[in-house]
Amino acid sequence: MSVSIKASTGNPFARVLSVASYVPSRVIDNAEMCTYIDSSDEWIQQRTGIAERRWVGEEETVESMALAAAQRAVERAGIEGSELGAVIVSTVTYFHQTPSLAAKLAHQLGTNGAAFDISAACAGFCYGLGQAESLVRSGAARYVLVVGVEELSRFTDIHDRTTAFLFADGAGAAVVGPSEINGIGPVVWGSDGGQSQAISQTTEWSEAVANGQTPYLAMDGRSVFKWASGFITDATKQVLDAAGLTPDDLDVFIPHQANNRITDAILRHLKLPERVVVARTIKQFGNNSAASVPMAMDQLLTTGKAKSGQTALLIGFGAGLVYAGQIVTLP
Ligand SMILES: CC(C)(COP(=O)(O)OP(=O)(O)OC[C@H]1O[C@@H](n2cnc3c(N)ncnc32)[C@H](O)[C@@H]1OP(=O)(O)O)[C@@H](O)C(=O)NCCC(=O)NCCS
Repeated sequence: MSVSIKASTGNPFARVLSVASYVPSRVIDNAEMCTYIDSSDEWIQQRTGIAERRWVGEEETVESMALAAAQRAVERAGIEGSELGAVIVSTVTYFHQTPSLAAKLAHQLGTNGAAFDISAACAGFCYGLGQAESLVRSGAARYVLVVGVEELSRFTDIHDRTTAFLFADGAGAAVVGPSEINGIGPVVWGSDGGQSQAISQTTEWSEAVANGQTPYLAMDGRSVFKWASGFITDATKQVLDAAGLTPDDLDVFIPHQANNRITDAILRHLKLPERVVVARTIKQFGNNSAASVPMAMDQLLTTGKAKSGQTALLIGFGAGLVYAGQIVTLP
């Protein structure tokens, strides 16, 4: 039977209402890192820009970090947790296959709204933001919480000198809601599963557990570097084009904190004006995957390096390989 199905009615525009982060307590400097791997402070700083990274302390977990960042973001948005129509969590280090961390988090925040986790690694926050913008504009949810959280210290072999110095822990969260003027540009996103081995889990959980082991992240650093400094540079230009902007329109650039040399390579091609503030939080926080973009945004705002109302370009990229980016007005 042919029927007339009512379409959802939403909001003309969405914006990021707030951002917040949680910084884990354990500071692992390069001197300590070099007790685990054969390396040096000079090598790590020169190749990545990392001086120290944060790992969880005994009381901290993926769940506790996500909750702390989320509570701050909800408070800063000036809404109640019960008003969240959807909670999206991006993580690759919540080791419960099911239920989702998002459903638990939603309950802890006092909402029965939609809740789901996404697996898009270091692009996860930007993937979530793209979905949040669509949900708000379609009317599927009025307020959406997006969380990026990782405990990569548990998913990294600290004696593996190809990965140990890079990965870290942390959480960031943002609330997206309706707006009179547009505050989030079109998401530019995609994947290249042909390079799935470039960053991947060493073995399946079941296989590892049967052998009394833990699976870890393995990385082909050179392939990732080549892809990120080439393809991601083009994707970053597409983010600007999609929003109808040029580099001159930007105030802030927040790339995933993968590696300072990748940021430098993107900057060389993007030709941003000198005045544009570039996130470099990798120096203190390392690469904490889905948490890195919202953590960097929060740090720039709380330290006064960036200001509310400024225009920022976000780009996340990583295991999959996957990427996503968009222009936002800073909350
Ligand atoms: C990981 C990365 C820093 C390694 O640097 P690289 O220059 O490719 O390193 P290579 O494996 O080619 O090794 C170069 C040299 O450094 C040495 N080396 C490798 N790892 C080292 C370490 N942890 N400490 C000290 N020396 C190291 C190698 O032995 C080699 O020495 P040699 O020239 O005497 O043979 C680099 O590939 C990279 O930045 N990749 C991108 C990774 C990334 O950003 N991932 C996150 C994406 S989300």
